[in-house]
Amino acid sequence: MRRSTLRQLEVFEAIVRFGSFTRAAEELFLTQPTVSLQIKKLTDVVGLPLFEQIGKKIYLTDAGKELHQMNLDIFERLERFEMVTSNMKGMKAGKLRLAVVTTAKYFAPRLLGMFCRQYPEIDVSLEVSNREHILERLVKNQDNLYILGQPPKEIDVIAETFLENPLVVLASVNHPLANEKGITLKRIAKESFLSREFGSGTRIATERFFADQGLKPNIRMELGSNEAIKQAIVGGLGISILSRHTLALDMPTGQLAVLDVQGFPIKRHWYYAYPAGKQLSIVAQVFLEYLQQAPQLLVDVSCHYANIGHCPLLPEGN
Ligand code: PGA
Repeated sequence: MRRSTLRQLEVFEAIVRFGSFTRAAEELFLTQPTVSLQIKKLTDVVGLPLFEQIGKKIYLTDAGKELHQMNLDIFERLERFEMVTSNMKGMKAGKLRLAVVTTAKYFAPRLLGMFCRQYPEIDVSLEVSNREHILERLVKNQDNLYILGQPPKEIDVIAETFLENPLVVLASVNHPLANEKGITLKRIAKESFLSREFGSGTRIATERFFADQGLKPNIRMELGSNEAIKQAIVGGLGISILSRHTLALDMPTGQLAVLDVQGFPIKRHWYYAYPAGKQLSIVAQVFLEYLQQAPQLLVDVSCHYANIGHCPLLPEGN
């Protein structure tokens, strides 16, 4: 193993992460032949195959799995070393790997943009996926920090709220309920409901809210994205419950109405989280401090919501 280089281990890790030589090459800005050559050299050093291909998928061999375990250790130590040395140098530099649930994409990139302008030496990567997948990443300790709508009960994490995340009932402006006041949840349960996919935090929270009142949404269609749901609402396919953040910025003005339903908005919050026991890098700590200002930072974004009458990014009453 002594003749393998760090670069080869990096290439190996990228292939494991993406399950693909092509995507690993893209991520590392290398050509595919270079990636294959690096893996060939690494395989020669180990003396055993590291991957096996079945159909179109590649899998780790037992030797590959051992190497992957060792790699996780090596890279964690390297990151810690970089962290200690940048701390010694008093520098706010390094890499921040952030993974967020789908709905957080409505504010996380803007927060990151402002953060990067403040700390140009910090490189940022952002992974966006639904709750289930983000939790898998958290368990595998693949990122520095996570943003999600509810800390997991089943995993030991450090978690803290930093922003409100109210869920509202959305319908087309032409919907018969659009101008009614004090609509009951029972009435909402009769409507065709457009639901997020299994594994979505929004879906879990919505179904729990209905269940607490002995009700169930009448799911007509499942869609894998907030944007698709908004389009389907405008298209008259039904109503839905989504985070008010989904109304930020790109809303086609005047096509969606927030219904006045008893018990709404469902009060939720955004949390940052990381595995308990994880030693946060300096960069991650700097980002956490920065997150405390998130509510004020996001207020600056212009809020023109015809028909909504409330800025989605502000707490109630603003
Ligand atoms: P989702 O999560 O984007 O997976 O629905 C959002 C949330 O947990 O509030």
